[in-house]
Formats: sequence, C-alpha cells, structure tokens
Amino acid sequence: MAFIKMEKHQDPKLVKEKIMEISLENNRANNSSPKKLANVAERLGGIEEYYFSTKLRQIDDMNKAGKQVINLGIGSPDLPPHPDVIKTLQEESAKPNQHGYQNYKGSPVLRKAISEWYEKWYHVDLNPDTEILPLIGSKEGIMHVCMTYINPGDVVLIPDPGYPTYKSAATIAGANVHAYTLTKGNNWFPDFEELEKMSLEKVRLMFVNYPQMPTGQLPSDNMFEALIAFGKKHQILICHDNPYSFILNDKPLSLLSFDGAKDVVIELNSLSKSHNMAGWRVGMLCGAKERIEEVLRFKSNMDSGMFLPIQLAAAKALKLGQDWYDSVNEVYRKRRKLVFDLLELLNCSYDKSQAGLFVWAEIPVKYKDGYELSDEVLNDANVFITPGGIFGNAGNKYIRVSLCATEEKITDALNRIKNKALA
Ligand SMILES: Cc1ncc(COP(=O)(O)O)c(C=O)c1O
Repeated sequence: MAFIKMEKHQDPKLVKEKIMEISLENNRANNSSPKKLANVAERLGGIEEYYFSTKLRQIDDMNKAGKQVINLGIGSPDLPPHPDVIKTLQEESAKPNQHGYQNYKGSPVLRKAISEWYEKWYHVDLNPDTEILPLIGSKEGIMHVCMTYINPGDVVLIPDPGYPTYKSAATIAGANVHAYTLTKGNNWFPDFEELEKMSLEKVRLMFVNYPQMPTGQLPSDNMFEALIAFGKKHQILICHDNPYSFILNDKPLSLLSFDGAKDVVIELNSLSKSHNMAGWRVGMLCGAKERIEEVLRFKSNMDSGMFLPIQLAAAKALKLGQDWYDSVNEVYRKRRKLVFDLLELLNCSYDKSQAGLFVWAEIPVKYKDGYELSDEVLNDANVFITPGGIFGNAGNKYIRVSLCATEEKITDALNRIKNKALA
C-alpha cells in the first residue's frame, strides 16, 4: 500500500495528481493480491463518489438532527414543466400500446421536434433522421462520447473550472485528462496560445461548455470560430455541452451554427434546465451523420430507447414559444437579485452579466478557499453553498450559488447569514 507524504506549501494540483497516481497504484496492488469477491476495476482507481452524492448525505444527516438546511448547491430546477407537457405524458402513458421497447435512435416525433427546435432558436440545420440522437440526459452523452472515441492513453482536454463529469467519464474510458485553465482575465475562454504550447499529438477530444458552468460565462463568436479552427488544425473532436443556453440569456447560441462546425464539432443539449425536466432525463447529441452513427454503436449496446410517452412529451416541450422561456427567466431573474444581495453580505465579488442557473462569485481574501467559506456557512447558518474547488483548482477561490430555490428560501438563507454575522 503506497502513501503520500505532504510537503508544506506543495502545489495542490501536484498533490491531487499524486493522490490519483497512488490510488491507481493501490488499486492495482489490491487486484494483484489473492482473489477477492468484487474487487473494484482498475478503471475506477482515482474516481471518487460524486461530490454532491456525499454532500447530500451530510445535509440529510443535519436535517434528521433538525437543522433544516437550505440547499443553494444543486442546479435541479424546482419548478414544474409546462402543463401541456405533463398532460401529454399522462395521456400517452394511459394508452395501452405505448409501453414496449423503443427505437434505439429515438422516436421520429422527438427527432423532428429537436430538428425544428435547433432551426428555430439556433439557426442550425439538422437532418432529423441522421444528425440527431436523443439521450437519457446530456450526462450520459458525455460518457458515451468518451467510450466511443477514447483509447487508453489518449489525451482529453477538459475545462478547469468545469463540470466534474468530463473528467470522470474521460478517466473511466482510459484517457489521460489534461485540464486547460480558464481565468477571469481571459473571460473564462480557453487560452489557445497556451494550448498550442503543449504536445497535441495524442489529444483526441476536447470538452467545452458555454454558457459555461460554473462561471456563467457566455460565448463569443470569435472564441467559437477559434475553437473550430483549433479542432480542425489539430484534428481534435470538439464536444460542446450546451444545456444552459436558454437560462438568463437572450441569445441562445450553438457551436454548430458556425461555418464548417460539423466537420469537428458534436453538441450535447438537454431539456433538464431549459424546460424544468431534470428528472425526466431527456437530452440529445447533434452532429454529422458519421458521428451520430459512431456514438450509436456504443449507446445501442448500453440501453434501449426512452419510454415513448416521455419522448412525446419532450417533443411537446420543444415546441413551446418565447413566452415559456420568458416565464422561466422572470423567476430566475428575481432570485438572482436576492442571490446578489446574499453575496454582498458575504463580501464576495461577482459579474452581473452571467448566464445559467448559478451565480459564480470570488470569495474574500480572509478565506483560504471556497471550501472554508462553504463549511462555515453550512455549520453556522445551515445554508449549503457549493465550493468552487469541486470544479477544479482554478475554482478554489470561488463559490457557486444555485438559483433553484424559491425567493422565500433565498431570503431565509440571507437572514440566517446576516444573523450569524458571518461576513
Ligand atoms: C455543464 C453540464 N452539463 C451537463 C449536465 C447534465 O445535464 P443532464 O441533466 O442533461 O444530464 C449538467 C448538470 O448539472 C451540467 O451542469
């Protein structure tokens, strides 16, 4: 069994890499010792239980002890889908012939609705028969994309800070993950000059996500064009994850809308946030016919098509007009104002032009990192706020506050923090 010896002031990135290496080593050693029931596979070495899964257990224990924690951590929309969407699900599931296995490529009705949605809002032309693959959420798509394209030892570029699933999915698929740092000074955009300095020979895949989670940064046309040029120059498949484009953003943008994008880009999207359907698990992969066929080779071996009434109700959701998105955003805009007040109270600084379901904020210098602030607010005020470090080292000096709580709850959280005089 190997252990890590910590030096004072050691670079946290190096420490993390070392821990990962040792964990893989220990896992290997474990598996070479006499046969045991259910040895965990080496591919899970270095993969921990998802942060929120552990944190929710702690919050649950606190609630059982009567603390009534206000959770401003997770981005699961608390509002329901449009009533017509629920009605479609009810009516379709009441029919006797809707309960069998479904087409692996998804219902033609849903694929057509996705194609029309992309045309109407993103001005992207997608053939519903060949260029769209409905998914059980964008998260499963990330795994499918990694399993489809990664050979052990290939390099995958992931954003830091960024959605943790990119790293875990790529690692499980056997990749060497290289985190590219996003900084406030560079508008949280990839630094292409820095990327050009590294050896890109083994880089197969790059994950990008704008509006960016957790920073809330919107994309720019120039950056998207540079991304496509970078992918083409180095033959890197660019996977754009786009679930936040309708939240607190008037101009939804798809990376696929740029010239030549289909040559190197695939795009994940989702109804989880835009249509308040996180629990329904409906997402999509869009891109060139060849890419869709390749990912389907993997996915069709993993699961069968989604429950048809869910697909038909999702198609209904995608037909909703501007008034739907306006109504959703009106709620989030009011909540965001209160979250800004809460962040002022904590002496955090933030950018008011952020998009998406969260507010990303820089912590005051008196805290070592976002974990310290988050723990203090949780322990003293029974309010949970996500520490930015869970999204990568570049997020260490930040916190992320979710807008998925009612105005009453956010006000309550604000008052609890005020009463504890935490700032
Ligand atoms: C950046 C990003 N991508 C993907 C997902 C997962 O979305 P879905 O519910 O479609 O799986 C999330 C969820 O929080 C996310 O933040």
